Amino acid sequence: MLPRPKFTALDAPLYEYLLAHRSPDDDVVRELREQTARLGNHAVMQIAPDQATLLRILVAAAGARRAIEVGTFTGFSALAIARGLPADGRLLCLDVSEEWTAIARKAWAKAGVAERIELRIGPAAESLRALPEEPSFDFAFIDADKKGYPVYWEEIVRRLRPGGLVAVDNVLWEGEVVKPEEQGEDVVAIRHFNELVLADRRVESVMLAIADGLTLARKLA
Ligand SMILES: C[S@@+](CC[C@H](N)C(=O)[O-])C[C@H]1O[C@@H](n2cnc3c(N)ncnc32)[C@H](O)[C@@H]1O
Repeated sequence: MLPRPKFTALDAPLYEYLLAHRSPDDDVVRELREQTARLGNHAVMQIAPDQATLLRILVAAAGARRAIEVGTFTGFSALAIARGLPADGRLLCLDVSEEWTAIARKAWAKAGVAERIELRIGPAAESLRALPEEPSFDFAFIDADKKGYPVYWEEIVRRLRPGGLVAVDNVLWEGEVVKPEEQGEDVVAIRHFNELVLADRRVESVMLAIADGLTLARKLA
């Protein structure tokens, strides 16, 4: 007999409980989240608080020194990644928006991690292709336009050190990935991307049911 499927469905009270039982956020995080919330509908783009904690722990546990992020917005995920790095670690952030990343820069300065972060403004595919083709990154986070994911993945996996980690956001697309009637541009792109990761023999990977779904992949030697 097959074992019972093992997962915990979250409702709002359980999610509140879960959020309350992780290392607490500090004032910089609280301020940044409040400021981002004031942007209205755009604020949904920000990663969830528990994802930020997870990113910081992953970066630190991996002993990452060089990290890259595609999709920075107001800087919450970058702040978490930078805080997981050692003082001489480096994070390269790629985004197209001067306006949103101006908010990010202020938060990074308040948190004392601005010197660890370099921000490049422009289409991420171009910024990635301009990087040297050598395995230089220990950690990557992908969270930008969904149609771009396959290119970001390819350009990043090539530049990842063996043993390096890639985290990719929104891989469950609010559960629509398993609803064939949903044929929106983004969910179709995410389905395609998820198959691409599954078939990629350069990595081992797992999907985590956190927030909107997070794929975590490790580059094999
Ligand atoms: C979901 S948000 C990122 C959220 C961010 N990780 C956080 O924690 O707040 C997506 C970001 O991708 C950026 N973006 C969209 N298309 C892009 C592209 N072609 N190249 C670079 N960045 C892009 C947007 O400007 C936006 O800031």
